[in-house]
Amino acid sequence: MPVTIVLGSQWGDEGKGKIVDLLAENCEYVARYQGGANAGHTIRLPDGREFVLHLIPSGIFHPGVQCIIGNGVVIDPVALRDEIAMVEAAGVEVKGRLFISYNAHLIMPYHKQLDKASEARLSKSGDGKAVGTTGRGIGPAYEDKFARKGIRIVDLLDRPSFVEKLRQNISEKNELLSKFYDSTDFCDVEQIVRDYEVFDKEMDPYITDTALMLNKAIAQGSNILLEGAQAALLDIDFGTYPYVTSSSPTAGGACTGLGIPPTSVDSVIGVVKAYSTRVGNGPFPTELSDEIGERLRKAGREYGATTGRPRRCGWLDAVAVRYAVMINGISSVALTKLDVLSDLPEVKICTRYERITDGKVIENFTTNLKTLSSIRPIFETFDGWKKDELAGISDRHDLPKNVEKYLSAIERELGASLDIISLGAGRNETLSEKSSVVNL
Ligand code: GDP
Ligand code: IMO
Ligand code: MG
Repeated sequence: MPVTIVLGSQWGDEGKGKIVDLLAENCEYVARYQGGANAGHTIRLPDGREFVLHLIPSGIFHPGVQCIIGNGVVIDPVALRDEIAMVEAAGVEVKGRLFISYNAHLIMPYHKQLDKASEARLSKSGDGKAVGTTGRGIGPAYEDKFARKGIRIVDLLDRPSFVEKLRQNISEKNELLSKFYDSTDFCDVEQIVRDYEVFDKEMDPYITDTALMLNKAIAQGSNILLEGAQAALLDIDFGTYPYVTSSSPTAGGACTGLGIPPTSVDSVIGVVKAYSTRVGNGPFPTELSDEIGERLRKAGREYGATTGRPRRCGWLDAVAVRYAVMINGISSVALTKLDVLSDLPEVKICTRYERITDGKVIENFTTNLKTLSSIRPIFETFDGWKKDELAGISDRHDLPKNVEKYLSAIERELGASLDIISLGAGRNETLSEKSSVVNL
């Protein structure tokens, strides 16, 4: 299966970094298709070193893998520079292996300012409307892209036109910052021009026509992984709007974010955490605000890889993941962090919702916030298992009976097979049901 999308099936942080790094071993290319440095993808290498990638695709630690950042990604040159330095300092070659689309839009300093100013204003209004963004300027950068005001990497090549565009954007943003957001934090055109000239030189060796590159690779039958950031329920169209990110993490986003045809995609792997987490605000039907939620947060080290914020935790929501399976055409599931559920007396899966007012059973997920606020989860409960019982297991068939019951119920509820099961952050802490998935 040469072209495979790997995407998040919940609210992000499912362990996409681990799964992409694992599968990349058998690939020639890994390509990121959307989002920006709001993503935090953690990779633990066999020697124990751990890295969090925000922009560089999660294949970079395999020397034979070419890494592509597609046109759909919004690039913060400061974050990119830091990340390249971090990876190089780890002894990994980046030049000649990282390729960035000349069509990708740039995050400018005013995008980050506006992101923070907007969130601060929404928080102050006190009606819980703040999204709880990562503050990385993602929303404002995509706003400019779709308003046809954005600055792409290719625009840096034509200096007079770049400066003119920048002047126009900055006068508009400064007006917005001062008049609407009461901010005194303004942008200086000359400073930005100087900074982006430096970034332009730094990025130059990596910039290319990545759509052409990928389509050639597809024609040659190369093994290619398309790496999603964020997740289905944070998708701008299919997520719990407006508590979403501003891009399309779902499968369709892979084609528009890279310039490859839908007919070239062979399969879609959905990464599903064995329970649920969410960072930031918005509906979360299975959230646990009790000591079990706290226990999951501690055991799963559920603190944001990008912002360090504590993640909200809850039981697995099969209604929500079923929806992700449907809209993405997920053919195969990678279940992560199963180990974190160990040592609990019982574990639960939400299989349906129930309307609070009249008990009506709801089988399908909805992005209608009003409906989501008036339902409660219906759970199926399973006996727990001990962490010791997972030690040394390398085959799903050897898992304790109680674990297998939990896994079979997930497969039944999702209508998709769990082909990869992750029991720890390391590459070798993984069981794979079908060798065909791992040997892409
Ligand atoms: P991503 O954004 O989807 O790549 O996920 P993050 O990196 O933000 O968060 C996943 C966290 O869980 C990271 O700290 C991973 O190292 C860790 N992780 C991944 N898989 C497993 C697993 O199976 N078990 C445990 N305990 N940790 C895992
Ligand atoms: P990875 O790729 C989890 C959330 C933010 C916020 C909302 C919008 O590591 O899974 P944004 O900064 O994108 O405008 O914020 O989306 N969010 C994530 N949550 N994992 C992520 O990425 C996220 N990227 C954004 O917390 O609720
Ligand atoms: Mg993450």
